[in-house]
Amino acid sequence: MKKATKVMALAAAMVMLACTLTACGSGKGGKLTFGTNAEFPPFEFVASEGVIDQYDGIDMAIAKNIAEQNGMTAAIENMEFDSLLVALQNGQIDAVIAGMTATDERRETVDFSTTYYTATQVMIVKEDSDITTAADMADKKICVIQGYTGEICVQDMGYPYEAFKKGTEAVLELVNGKCDVVVIDSATAQKYVSDNEGLKIVEDASAFESEEYAIAVQKGNTELLEKINKSIEAMLADGTINELAVKYTEAVSEE
Ligand code: ARG
Repeated sequence: MKKATKVMALAAAMVMLACTLTACGSGKGGKLTFGTNAEFPPFEFVASEGVIDQYDGIDMAIAKNIAEQNGMTAAIENMEFDSLLVALQNGQIDAVIAGMTATDERRETVDFSTTYYTATQVMIVKEDSDITTAADMADKKICVIQGYTGEICVQDMGYPYEAFKKGTEAVLELVNGKCDVVVIDSATAQKYVSDNEGLKIVEDASAFESEEYAIAVQKGNTELLEKINKSIEAMLADGTINELAVKYTEAVSEE
């Protein structure tokens, strides 16, 4: 081997070693990019100091753990909820973690991980509301959030509704008496009720099915899906996810 070739070979070997040590070359430079919509406490919201940059919540802590357990660093791309699955298909993000319910419709375009949280839709109403079941919404003004499963539920029930971009906007409408009921996921509803005076939650288990939150990856990305599933299973088994749920629901109601 000529000296120049030897030097080159040595340099190449050193680059490879450096890559192994820093986990570059696995995925995108050791970075695992999750897409979310940080308008969904206690799962994801913007805080002065979050677990990943300014992003905080149960999902953000889960995302961070998944990345770290696989020798990577978690990054967050915050976008509209409706854009998440498109961004995933485009390869702009590696996975979606957004309190996203694994529905059959969504399964047509993406693959979902193991369930990490089970929720249900509930109704937020004023304390003096006469709504006690989902059927009572028939002649009421209903608010939902665009693209959420709550919108699909109300649609399926055949009731007219108004859709908002953010949960906070829909809740403000309710507080101001411009709508009678907001249909949204249970834990997020709890947060809004503790943040605003004069609201309560009405449940109707016979009208709203339980929903399973899961992480979405591109269809066929089994390599990443397996890593994610392993981490989720470990975090379910050792109580991490439970602890996070307790921590963020308490922190949220103390605010
Ligand atoms: N679970 C509902 C759904 O999948 C709402 C999720 C909203 N998440 C969010 N990060 N904004 O449609």
